Amino acid sequence: MKKILITRRLLKACEEKASKNFETHLNDNDELYSQSKVIEMSKGCDGILTSLTDKMDAETINKLPDSIKILSNFAVGFGNIDIEAAKKRGIVVTNTPDVLTDATAEIGILLILGACRRAAEGIQSAKDSSWKWSADYLIGKQLTGSRLGILGMGRIGQKIAKIARSLGMIIHYHNRSKLNSEKEQGATYHDNLKSLLSVSDVLSVCCPASKETINLINKETIEYLPKGAVVTNVARGDIVEDEALIEALDRRKVYAVGLDVYKGEPKLNSGYLKHKGAFILPHLGSATKETRTAMANLAIDNIEEFFSTGKCRNTVNE
Ligand code: DGY
Repeated sequence: MKKILITRRLLKACEEKASKNFETHLNDNDELYSQSKVIEMSKGCDGILTSLTDKMDAETINKLPDSIKILSNFAVGFGNIDIEAAKKRGIVVTNTPDVLTDATAEIGILLILGACRRAAEGIQSAKDSSWKWSADYLIGKQLTGSRLGILGMGRIGQKIAKIARSLGMIIHYHNRSKLNSEKEQGATYHDNLKSLLSVSDVLSVCCPASKETINLINKETIEYLPKGAVVTNVARGDIVEDEALIEALDRRKVYAVGLDVYKGEPKLNSGYLKHKGAFILPHLGSATKETRTAMANLAIDNIEEFFSTGKCRNTVNE
């Protein structure tokens, strides 16, 4: 039986499934392992089921025992893993695409609604009993007829587009390449970021974090947005330069933000906290029972597929 280190606690049924198929090292207390602890604990193991909280940089990967053949990441994003360093060591890296599209798109829409309709302020005043209904109280931005710019029209971006369209939003997107008309569903393609941002009343960041996208939303690019735009991010914190976005909120260039992901999670830039217009969530994108179960099961299946066939269809570093 192959030996697998599972770095974070999974839902019970998924841990049971893993333990039927492998000899597992589980993390019952859901401790956040340091990089050196992951290296230490992986001794004698054949693979690691990693999570987005494990920083598997080149230094860590180079110190893993030779027996490690696969890093099965429990996420669709794999910015926490240096996939090239893994490839050099002959370690396959896999992810869990598709299964979290719907749940993450739901949170993407929640961010848009929460930021546009001033939900953070509304929740606070309801809790404080510091409100009364008035014709001009907590007036927000209506989605109907406003332009939604989607940065990264992959599976999650397309699902957000579909829901947003049903809310009456007009969809624009920027992607490495133009989608076919079936996937586009009438959305307008922009072949460059400036062009997309200049029509984005609401921006939804949906692209993966990569060398090309880190700090893509920065001091310079924020200026391309219309005044009073809303910026939301359901993808990865690394794509946004926090100081620039907070400064744009300060001077009302940006009306509100809706964020689920942050640089250096679980910390987040305290500048957001002083803004009433910041609707912020603690990385809940895939957090439903159905989706977390499907993600863990897929991460386990990826390991099985790899050890039984020598390949895995969800490999990201071929
Ligand atoms: C992912 O899979 O990348 C999600 O962010 C996890 O919640």
